[in-house]
Amino acid sequence: MGKCKGIKRAEEVPFTVWLTGLSGAGKSTLGGGLAEHLRLVGRRGFLMDGDVVRLGLCSGLGFSREDRRENIRRVAEASRLLNDAGVTVIAALISPYAADRKMAREIIGPDRFHEVYLSSPLAVCEARDVKGLYAKARRGMIPEFTGLSSPYEPPENPKLALDTSVLTEAEALSLLVQTFGEYLS
Ligand code: ADX
Repeated sequence: MGKCKGIKRAEEVPFTVWLTGLSGAGKSTLGGGLAEHLRLVGRRGFLMDGDVVRLGLCSGLGFSREDRRENIRRVAEASRLLNDAGVTVIAALISPYAADRKMAREIIGPDRFHEVYLSSPLAVCEARDVKGLYAKARRGMIPEFTGLSSPYEPPENPKLALDTSVLTEAEALSLLVQTFGEYLS
């Protein structure tokens, strides 16, 4: 058989990195950094960012217990399809409930699903308040705000935990890349 130029290398096994943590913990920033790293090493990657998917795939969903579960379910199903198509996914969602992350693991497949916990404490995320949402939530303008009036259940056994209140962005990204290096070679 002749050579098949452009055909994906057999060892390129796609997977999903599931970034969970409070709003302001750095999910989008680190997820974007990892997506850029994938591009640089020639891997097909896609960042599924909570704020972005809520504009389309998950528009119409709010932040009730049920809506958050449906949000996670849709993103997990889309991640599975992308993985099936050979694309590595970085999902960056608060995903505050352990049961919903377990559902995502089951949908995507335990071999492909890798949970990473961005563990910055609430006080630090709130002090950053990049989008001004914590201030609004404190004034009662946003109901069911994660960390304030809605719970966040930290993962018990994540593949990696990164506290971005202690680590610089570069340090956190480097640890993330090191952790997934074995899948990227
Ligand atoms: S999740 O809980 O369903 O996983 P998701 O990651 O999609 O949440 O969306 C979180 C983003 O929505 C936050 O970063 C913030 O910008 C915005 N947001 C708006 N309302 C809320 C709320 N009540 N709780 C948390 N985030 C909210």
